[in-house]
Amino acid sequence: IRVLGIESTAHTIGVGIAQNREPHILANEKDKYEPEKGGIHPRDASRHHAEKIGSIISRALKKANLKIDDIDAVAVALGPGMGPCLRVGATAARAISSYFGKPLIPVNHAIAHIEIGNLLSGFSDPLVVYISGGNTSIIAYKQKRYRVFGETQDIALGNLIDTFAREAGLAPPYVVNGRHVVELCAERSKEKKLLDLPYIVKGQDVSYGGLLTSSLKMIGKEDLGDVCYSLVEISYSMITEVAERGLAHTRKKEVILTGGVSASKVLTEKLEKMSALHGAKFFSVPPAFAGDNGAMIAWTGLLEYVHGIIIDPSMAYISQRWRVEEVEVVWKE
Ligand code: ATP
Ligand code: FE2
Repeated sequence: IRVLGIESTAHTIGVGIAQNREPHILANEKDKYEPEKGGIHPRDASRHHAEKIGSIISRALKKANLKIDDIDAVAVALGPGMGPCLRVGATAARAISSYFGKPLIPVNHAIAHIEIGNLLSGFSDPLVVYISGGNTSIIAYKQKRYRVFGETQDIALGNLIDTFAREAGLAPPYVVNGRHVVELCAERSKEKKLLDLPYIVKGQDVSYGGLLTSSLKMIGKEDLGDVCYSLVEISYSMITEVAERGLAHTRKKEVILTGGVSASKVLTEKLEKMSALHGAKFFSVPPAFAGDNGAMIAWTGLLEYVHGIIIDPSMAYISQRWRVEEVEVVWKE
């Protein structure tokens, strides 16, 4: 069985192909919309996705050496995400499904991040730390659902460091040679002085809004290296603390780090150490599969498809705030 998956929830338009035998992933093509300045404008991103999706589908099929006839079903991320972006993927998936008569599979984007992590790590029941430009959550499986054991109450960690970098004149580009510019700037801090910035953990949740405002106010007053160092240390420690309590509470023995920010060396080290302290195995999802991608949608779609989850194309509505807990994980023991 082979499933083609489409991802278009945010910056990335991606198409992947997965099958139910080795190698499980046959293609993972993508193109990321990167605005020259400022944050993401959903309209512009969706225009980008609409322009690229046709060629990316062709590229994925070519990469897998397949024709559309060789595909059994089409999966699409229907949420959560930005409306205009989600609509591009949904429209394409509905069209392929109707025109070629392929079953359509609805996929939750966050669950796809988890399932590709499970596939690549070989873990069966991890605590998942999902950190990107739009998401910051700690998720684990319990009684037929993936449940959230901590998340941000306002902005995501990736958004925090990106916005700071932009306002401080460090970006774009945000990432240079695989390192975030805020981390690179932190390394230039000579004294490694920890400034008095708000460390806000409430119960199992973190809040990064106040930290952003306060660190922006320090620009020009303190050494920029020290501000970056403090921002990185405080924001990463906050999420590590919440992950640690999530691990203690759920008693999982595996930890997966995923999402675009998982490419961070500093964050990886913190979570790796914390996991070791609790005797838990640790796996960081490789960047090609940690950032938004189509392969994770195809793979999750395949898991759902073999358990009979398909929808009529006319029912394939996008859902901007589709939470992980809403999905019954019928494919898992
Ligand atoms: P989502 O839709 O899941 O929120 P996204 O649109 O933010 O995802 P991703 O590619 O998953 O896209 O994540 C992008 C984020 O990852 C950005 O905030 C970016 O700065 C951050 N990032 C990328 N590489 C690194 C790195 N090496 N270190 C730290 N952060 C990184
Ligand atoms: Fe994502």
